[in-house]
This record gives sequence, C-alpha cells and structure tokens, in this order.
Amino acid sequence: MDRKWWKESIVYQIYPSSFQDSDGDGIGDLNGIRSRLDYLKDLGVNVLWLCPIMDSPMDDNGYDISNYRAINPRFGTMEDFDALLVEAHQRGIRIVMDLVVNHTSDEHPWFIESRKSVDNSYRDYYIWKPGKDGHEPNNWGASFGGSAWKYDPQTDMYYLHLFSPKQPDLNWENPAVREEMADILRFWKAKGIKGFRFDVINVISKPEVYEDDFEGDGRRFYTDGRNVHKYLKELVAAGGIDGMITVGEMSSTTLENCIGYTAEGNHELTMCFNFHHLKVDYKNGQKWELMPPDHMALKKLFQTWQEGMQVHGGWNALFWCNHDQPRAVSRFGSDTTYWKESAEMLAAAIHFMRGTPYIYQGEELGMTNPHFTSIDQYRDVESRNYYKILRQQDKSEEETLDIIAQRSRDDSRTPMQWNSSENAGFTTGTPWIGLADNYKAINAAAEVDDPDSVRSFYKMLVHLRKTHKVISEGKIEFLYPDNADLLAYRRYGAEDGEELLVLCNLTEHDAPYTLPEGWADADKLLGNYPDRNDALRPYECLILTKA
Ligand code: GLC
Repeated sequence: MDRKWWKESIVYQIYPSSFQDSDGDGIGDLNGIRSRLDYLKDLGVNVLWLCPIMDSPMDDNGYDISNYRAINPRFGTMEDFDALLVEAHQRGIRIVMDLVVNHTSDEHPWFIESRKSVDNSYRDYYIWKPGKDGHEPNNWGASFGGSAWKYDPQTDMYYLHLFSPKQPDLNWENPAVREEMADILRFWKAKGIKGFRFDVINVISKPEVYEDDFEGDGRRFYTDGRNVHKYLKELVAAGGIDGMITVGEMSSTTLENCIGYTAEGNHELTMCFNFHHLKVDYKNGQKWELMPPDHMALKKLFQTWQEGMQVHGGWNALFWCNHDQPRAVSRFGSDTTYWKESAEMLAAAIHFMRGTPYIYQGEELGMTNPHFTSIDQYRDVESRNYYKILRQQDKSEEETLDIIAQRSRDDSRTPMQWNSSENAGFTTGTPWIGLADNYKAINAAAEVDDPDSVRSFYKMLVHLRKTHKVISEGKIEFLYPDNADLLAYRRYGAEDGEELLVLCNLTEHDAPYTLPEGWADADKLLGNYPDRNDALRPYECLILTKA
C-alpha cells in the first residue's frame, strides 16, 4: 500500500445515527449511508470515517461497545456492512472504523465475567481497587461528571470509568487485553477496512499508583501515560496495520507526544486529533463556562502545532467539527448575517494547512447548532449530566440552557439536512433527535447544483487539494502573528514551485492588510467574495497563488 495516500486524502466523518435512515425507524443506518455514496463521491472525499457501528447498548451512542465483532442491529447487519464496503470501494472511497479500546460497555461479556469474583479469569481485564476509608479509591473525576469510580457490591470493590459508569476502563497493563485488541484489528482488516480512528487512545496507559489529584481531575496521571507509545507500537505491529490510515484521538495531549505518535519512523499512528484550538472559547479552561473565541490564542495554537509538527516530521488531522463539538459556523463564525461567508472562511482556514482535512457530516452545507430550548430535546449523556450539575451550581434555568445550547455534543448530532421535505429527508419516521429549524434553507438539495453554495466551496477545496501539490506536500509558515483578526500563512516548497498565500479575516468587521513582499501581482486562486478589496471584509478569505 502506498504509505503516503493518507496525506493526499480528505476524510469525511459520518455519525451513523444521524446521516440517513433507510427503514423509517428514525435512526440512521448502513443502508442509508450506502444510498448516499454518490453524494460523497461527488464531493470528492476518498475516505469515510464511521463513528462506532459495533454492537452497543448505546449509553454513549456506541462508544460503549458490547461486541467488537458484531454490527449494532439498529444500524443493520454484517451483510449490510459488507455491501457498503464493496460499493464504497467501487467509488474509490475507503472506510475507516472507529475503535473504542480504552473501555468497553459494562454489558460486554468480559466485564460481566470480571465483576463476578476477584479470581475470575477476566478480573484483570478491568481496573478494580478497594475503597479508601469507605470512599472511592481516589478523587479522580469522570469526563461526564461525578467520580471516576463506581462501587460494585458483588466483590465490594470499585472499578475505574473515565467516562460514564457504563464504560469501565480496560486494564492495558494486562497483555491479554492488548492481544484481544490486536485480534480485533486483524478481524476488521481482513474485512477490508483501510484504517482506524482510535478513540481517546492517549489515556489507555494508567499509572502504577492511583494517587489523589489535588490540582485537577486526575487526567495528568494518565494522559499520554507512561506506556502509551509502547502499547501503540505493539498494537500497530500485532494488528498488522502499519501503513493504513490511523488517527488517534488525543485528549489534552502535548505537541511532543503527538510528534512521537506520528513521526514516520515510529510506526505508531499516521495522524492525531488534538483539541487545544477548540478550547479557545473555554473561560478559565472550563467547557461549561462561556466566552467568545480568543483569536490570538487560536492563531498561536495553529502556528505552534503546524510549524512544530512540520519541523519534527509529525502529521496533523485538520478539523473544526466532529460529533463531540458544536458546529464551527455557530461557534467561530456567524449563523445569521454572515453565515455563508464565515462557513466558507472557516473551511478555507484549515483546508490549506499542512495535514489531512476532516469534514464532519453537514459541515459542507454550513449546518448550524440547532439552538434547542428545553433539556428534553437533548439525548447526549454528557449534556444531560451537566444540565443537572449546572443547575445544582445555582445557575438559572435560562443560563444553564444557554450554556448547554452552545456547548452540547448534540449540536452536531442533529439529522443531516438533505432537502426541505419533512425531517429534511433524513427519515420517514420520527427522528431520534430533533432537527435544526433552518433545514428548509440549509440543505444538500438546495446547495449541490448551486455553484455559489457552501457545498460548492467545499467541493472546490477538495478539488484544489488533489490538484495543487503544495497543499498536501508543501511547507507552511505563519505570517502576521501580532494581528489578532487575521489568520495568515504561506505554503511553499513543493516540487512544482507553486506558492500559496492564505488570508482569513476571523472577525465580522473589516480587517485591513498589506501583502507581503513579492505578492502584489499574484493571482487569486480562491475567495469567498466575488471581487478584491483593500481590507478583508467580514469573514473574508483570500487565497493567492504564484509560480
Ligand atoms: C471520545 C468520543 C466521544 C466519547 C468518548 C468516550 O471522546 O469521541 O464521543 O464519548 O470518547 O468514548
């Protein structure tokens, strides 16, 4: 397999529950995805990442797996999956599976065994500790709120769950667990999968001692943990997946570790997601405290990560959106006056960077947050937990709902907006989660044939990446570091000598700029305003090219 194909790829992320329903039960499914392959081929993407489709009780929408070798019946059958693979391959589209290996469902047979007794042969598949003075073994917190430990009366001990109590953490120090995971990789590889997205992979290696954390929630003790690089190398080798597209979801990671995870000679992963740029609107670093995005911080993070990965031969995944994030246009742009301009500028801002771009379903249409107004509209376990937590902190109902509306993972999980018919063409039944009201205006049918739509702009970005080598192969240098309004960088150094200058106005006011030396006569490659102006207009992006 060509070791570099993933550097030239554009990945499209599908959230199966919300993409396309084919049987009217209100939940998206594999046959629905298959029926939309031509839409994806037309967009030009060549890799699909499917969020988990393995069997699961769906406490965390599939990130709680109860059988790694079976398809969740709500999404279809293994035959449906095989048919999807074949038809995707016929269109030159490869499929990447989401694999959740830090934890399983508490309904997985391993955990059902493990909890039975202290001498059960699966006991050491999970992390069990005795309580301390009648309390949890330590003070670590779970990501979705509350303690990271749950008491289990059967053996009078606690098990660790970094996410919900229905997601017990696996014990990666146990070689049997590591071998089970490699075997699961081999199973999916044999089916014809061309890559994997590894869920929260940088927290698999826990410390030797489980001490209290008096500075935080415990994550500093297991983030990029002591054996994580070793376990990844081992997993990749034993699973036989070196050279496939592999992307690690790295929560709270560091640049140094991501270089380690992705530098070519290391045989770990091909690329990483990091989330630092998606915390620039977290007040005091807290997800549930609102503030407008800090553009200076955003620019600095892009520069540090892009230039840092480049110097040391690492590789980035480029993204604004996924199934855990609010919609970028509502968050970093405008979903009213400058909806189209900001959706396009945000796309251009990352698609010309060094790395592999990811498009999250509906992002290419400019889909927005749904602005739900009642807690009953939310389905996500984290949002529902935090609703209670925020209310207990004496925040008013109104303030709480405002925070949740801006930060909920459900913001991106509403049904794909295919057309203006009922339920946006997503289902003939009752959708499992409500839609954004704007689907009558923002939808694929309205945008596909309109050369001036957000979707056409994305299609152009995908096309340019395939036809201008400097985008996938070139070097990057950031410009105007002190101008908070303007994200600007230069791409250069590819074989054909082309250079690009990318200028993005991050704000809704005019941003004056001067061109760097040597760019006065450069041609316009792309922009989101029809003409050129002395200042960049609200959310304008302008990409110049010269030989
Ligand atoms: C990742 C997933 C998220 C999930 C969590 C626990 O962050 O993207 O959706 O809840 O891991 O598996």
